[in-house]
Formats: sequence, C-alpha cells, structure tokens
Amino acid sequence: MKGAASPGVVLGEWPEMAEQASAIRFKVFVDEQGVPADMELDEFDAASCHALAVIGAQAVGTGRLLPDGHIGRMAVLEPWRGTGVGAALLGALVAEARRRGMRVVALNAQTHAQGFYSRFGFVPTGPQFEEAGLPHQAMEMNLAE
Ligand SMILES: CC(C)(COP(=O)(O)OP(=O)(O)OC[C@H]1O[C@@H](n2cnc3c(N)ncnc32)[C@H](O)[C@@H]1OP(=O)(O)O)[C@@H](O)C(=O)NCCC(=O)NCCS
Repeated sequence: MKGAASPGVVLGEWPEMAEQASAIRFKVFVDEQGVPADMELDEFDAASCHALAVIGAQAVGTGRLLPDGHIGRMAVLEPWRGTGVGAALLGALVAEARRRGMRVVALNAQTHAQGFYSRFGFVPTGPQFEEAGLPHQAMEMNLAE
C-alpha cells in the first residue's frame, strides 16, 4: 500500500502520548535500525511536545519538539512510509514551533533522511557526525524570515 495517506496529527504531552509513541519508536529505531534500547527514551521526552500521526484508529508515526527548538525522533512505521505521513508530522511540529514563537528549528538528521528535511527548507550546518552508531547531519531552518 503506497497511496497518499491523510493522517490526522495530534499533539500532546508525554504522559498521554508515551504508550503509542514509544511503541513506534522502539519498532523503528531499536528493532529496525539497531539503536540501543536504553538510548531510545530519554529525559527530554517529559519536556517535549509530541506528535502522533493517526490513520483510522492506528498510530503510524511520531516525532517530538523540544523546548529549545530541536525536532527529533521522527519515525513512520515502514508500511506507511512514502505516503505523506512524515511530511504531515514535520509540518505539524514546525507549525507548533512557529506558534510558540521559536525563530529557528533544528534537528540532527540521519544522513539517509537529509533529502526529506531539505524539501521543507532545512539546511545543513557543520560536518557529519555519528550518534547512536548512525551517521547524522545537523540541519536547521529559520522561521523568522
Ligand atoms: C524519514 C521518514 C520520517 C520520512 O517519512 P515518510 O512518511 O516516509 O515521508 P513522506 O512520505 O511524508 O515524504 C515527504 C516527501 O519527502 C520525500 N522523502 C521521503 N523520504 C525521503 C528520503 N529519505 N530522502 C529524500 N526524500 C525523501 C518523499 O518522496 C516526499 O516527497 P514529495 O513531497 O515530492 O512526494 C521515514 O522514512 C522514517 O520514519 N524512516 C525511518 C526512521 C528514520 O530514519 N527517521 C529519521 C530520523 S532523522
């Protein structure tokens, strides 16, 4: 199934999002990408705004916005990739950053996903680096323009 999906995106705090968001993150980052399980949840979850993309009754993707303007933990379940779910999540998180008056949003992109973020206007900053055993590129987008 690779038609266009039209997910609803809901934003919320960690206590109400934790169960569904962590299930997606463990499936994508730990099971699929081999990120160590003890690195997946961190102290930033409690302080972040979380997004869940929902199709029908199923949560199929997630991401988070930290109070310092960093977006992270963007994950879409494999069967729904390439159908617009990631775009809907990123759009909702950037809109929330604007609503909060943030002037810049930043993220550490896995290098394979750099093109995804570039489409939204994120630009690379600095050299590539390794995090959780995977190559990353810092990127940011100016919201003040
Ligand atoms: C990266 C990820 C979140 C993208 O989500 P997605 O739902 O597949 O993306 P979408 O279908 O919304 O794609 C939006 C646009 O970006 C493009 N795109 C998606 N992934 C891309 C990639 N890896 N490189 C370049 N372009 C990409 C799509 O073709 C689409 O372009 P279009 O608007 O011209 O049709 C998803 O692939 C994912 O969860 N991957 C595994 C986890 C991961 O690596 N997360 C990133 C951590 S930084």
